[in-house]
Amino acid sequence: MIVLGIETSCDDTSAAVFNGKDLLSNVISSQLIHNRFGGVVPELASRSHIQMVLPVVRQAMSEAGVKQSDVEGIAVTYGPGLAGSLLVGLSVAKGLALSIGCPLIGVNHLEGHIFSNRLVYPDLKPPFVTLLVSGGHTQLIHVPRWGTYHIMGRTRDDAAGEAFDKVAKLLGLGYPGGPKIEQAARAGNEKYTRFPRAFLDKDRFDFSFSGLKTSVMLHVRKMEQADVEKNTPNICASFQKAVTDVLVKKTISAAQAAGVDQITMAGGVAVNGALQEQMRIEASSRKMSLYVPTPSFCTDNGAMVACAGHYYLSAGHNSPLCLAPQPSLNFS
Ligand code: KG4
Ligand code: ZN
Repeated sequence: MIVLGIETSCDDTSAAVFNGKDLLSNVISSQLIHNRFGGVVPELASRSHIQMVLPVVRQAMSEAGVKQSDVEGIAVTYGPGLAGSLLVGLSVAKGLALSIGCPLIGVNHLEGHIFSNRLVYPDLKPPFVTLLVSGGHTQLIHVPRWGTYHIMGRTRDDAAGEAFDKVAKLLGLGYPGGPKIEQAARAGNEKYTRFPRAFLDKDRFDFSFSGLKTSVMLHVRKMEQADVEKNTPNICASFQKAVTDVLVKKTISAAQAAGVDQITMAGGVAVNGALQEQMRIEASSRKMSLYVPTPSFCTDNGAMVACAGHYYLSAGHNSPLCLAPQPSLNFS
């Protein structure tokens, strides 16, 4: 079954074609317009999706070598995300489903991120625990089987990616902050200073990153500008280490508590090399397997939506054409 997946929940316009075995195309158009504002401007995001969504869909179909009449299902992200952005993808998906005469399936963006692991590692079988770390979410999810999700922990304030973005903005590194901080940190010393790690309740798996962000801000405010510039790599390395320590420790504890020996990672922050490396070391020392999608499948992409949609359509599920965007959608 050939499924077209459409993703427009935030600032990436993406479309992909998946046939259940091979990914035939995955086109991603990232909106650079937000960089100068240091974060995503919702109104600009939806306008840019309106401009890009049809060209991106056309390119995905052409790269896949499929015609509209070949498409047997349209999968689209319906939440969580920015209301206006979700609406653009949903409207296009509904129009296409109606004109082609194929089913529509609404995909939860968070579930899409989890399915990016199924796409990259077709032999991966639950049970596993997923660390979902993106700009909007930081969650530990126990997946006993595909389609069943138990949230073990989530952030009580900022998402990990949000903390990367805010600290990068504070240091004048630009947006998105994660890649800039990772790059700067390579030349820095993670032991330069010890920023606080919020482990919260030892036996629970919630996160908190706003205190860490404030601590970096207070640290920087006490310094002369020239000193900040000189020490930016050190500040980045120390900040990244504080985030990584908490994410890795909580993920390993969650996997142990759930009694699983497989960990998967998903979301934009999962691209971070230092995080991956520390997770790999800690997981392998406990004989746990670690799965991390390749970078373009960690960040937002249409392929994960097509993959999740394919799973549900194959199981006979679909969504009504009146499906509405759900900006605050989570796992039920
Ligand atoms: O999953 P994603 O593309 O979009 C959301 O659904 O949020 O994640 C974007 C987030 C941004 O906060 C970005 O700064 C962060 O992922 N990110 C990174 C890295 N690459 C992207 N964070 C840390 N290290 C990276 N290399
Ligand atoms: Zn995402």
